[in-house]
Order: sequence, then structure tokens, then C-alpha cells
Amino acid sequence: MDILAQIDKDKLPQHVAIIMDGNGRWAKKQGLLRAAGHKKGTRAVREAVECAAELGIKHLTLYAFSTENWNRPKAEVDTLMKLLVSSLKKEIATLQDNDVVLGTIGAINTLPDKAQRELEEVISKTQNNKGLKLTLALSYGSREEIVKTVQEICIKVKNNLLSPAEIDEDCVNSHLYTANMPDVDLLIRTSGEQRVSNFLLWQIAYAEFYFTDILWPDFRKHHLHDAIYNYQKRERRFGKTSEQIK
Ligand code: FPP
Repeated sequence: MDILAQIDKDKLPQHVAIIMDGNGRWAKKQGLLRAAGHKKGTRAVREAVECAAELGIKHLTLYAFSTENWNRPKAEVDTLMKLLVSSLKKEIATLQDNDVVLGTIGAINTLPDKAQRELEEVISKTQNNKGLKLTLALSYGSREEIVKTVQEICIKVKNNLLSPAEIDEDCVNSHLYTANMPDVDLLIRTSGEQRVSNFLLWQIAYAEFYFTDILWPDFRKHHLHDAIYNYQKRERRFGKTSEQIK
């Protein structure tokens, strides 16, 4: 069955977020080092970005490196940072061809200087594009983001710039890394694991979850089509009854 033809372009999720998992297991299965899995994972990143852009999805957020990933062996962290820099250099053309705007969320100032510089360059070169907003979560942890948000709000209250009564959901939203982005509609995790791992905890309040056994390096456009088709078959009630939705 041609799933792409069955996707309703008027009912696309506005914001798709992906936990790209399984690079290490993919490498192990092939008898390769973990680094080879990460390298192969960059092809899947390109496929997901192109596919989201082709479909007309507005926001794609990829969990590329978590705050907890700093605890991996130094050699693996170095490999991931180098891969980030080389991928940005290599894929700038893909981003421009697909009219993609690059952005980041996370503690970007904790990344190596080289990675920060390359990110700044690609962000600046793509800032006037009009298509898909691609956000890389780098040194990202949702709890860290929420703590940062609470601190910023407290400072404003302390300086009389904000009163406690003014702290509502919009106020919290506007202090998150994702301030100008819509909530996540569809959260995908590859590799068969079914957990959220400190990713966008506030923003997934009403997201639909889609888990697949595919390991991230094997993820292709048709897998994203499957996820979106599956999403479109669900009834999102946002706390209401089925009758109210219809
Ligand atoms: C999870 O697989 C993946 C990561 C921690 C890193 C994701 C990185 C990439 C896909 C490549 C580079 C990305 C960009 C944006 C250039 P894992 O290592 O946890 O796999 P495992 O659970 O099988 O060990």
C-alpha cells in the first residue's frame, strides 16, 4: 500500500519530535564500533529532514544529544561532536535546497567552541528560509530547561517585572527554549524503547506517541510516512469526549 498517497496534507502534525535511538545497537549488530552507528545515523537525519520538508510539516525537533549523554565515554562524546560539525558543513546544501530554517534548544554554550561556531554559521545562513523549522536538541534536558525557566521567572518577580499572579501557562511557555514553537503533536522514538528520556516534558503534554522497533540508522522516509499515517488515524480529544470532537 502506498502510505504517502493516503496521508491527508490538511491534517499534518504541526510539530513532530523524534528521539533518534538505536545507533549503538545497529553498529553492534553489524559487528562495528558505536561510532559507525552514529555516522550511519546522519543519513537517517537527512531522510527525516527532507521528508518533513517535502510533506510541508512546520516543525521537526530532533533529540541529538542530551544533558545525560555527557556521561558517555569521552571518545564517544568527541565522535558525536565531530559528527555534528562535519554534518553541518556537509548538509548546509540540503538545508538550503529544502528551504529549512535551523535552530537549537539546549545548553548550547556547553558545546565545544567549534560546534557552537558551526551552528551559528548555519543558523545565520538559513535564517531567512521560509520552510520547515528544524530544531536540534543539543545538550538538552527537559528538567534543566524547566529549572532555567523557574529561575528566570523568579528573577523577574524579584525585580518587580512580573507578579506571581501573572505566571500562567503562556508565561512559562515563553521562558522555555521552545518559546516560539507550538506544542509537540507527534513524538516518535525508534529502536523499540518506550520512554521519554527527559525530552520536551512540558511540550508533549498532549502529544501522540509512536514507537517503532526500527533502529535509527535504518529509519527512512517511508517510516516517517507510516508514523504520520498512524497519527492521522487517532482521535485527539484533549480531555473532551469523542462526541464533542465530532
Ligand atoms: C542514540 O543512539 C543516538 C544518539 C545519542 C545520538 C544521535 C546522533 C545522531 C543521529 C547522529 C548525529 C546527529 C546530527 C544531528 C548530526 P544510542 O547511541 O543511544 O543507541 P543505543 O541505545 O543502541 O546504544
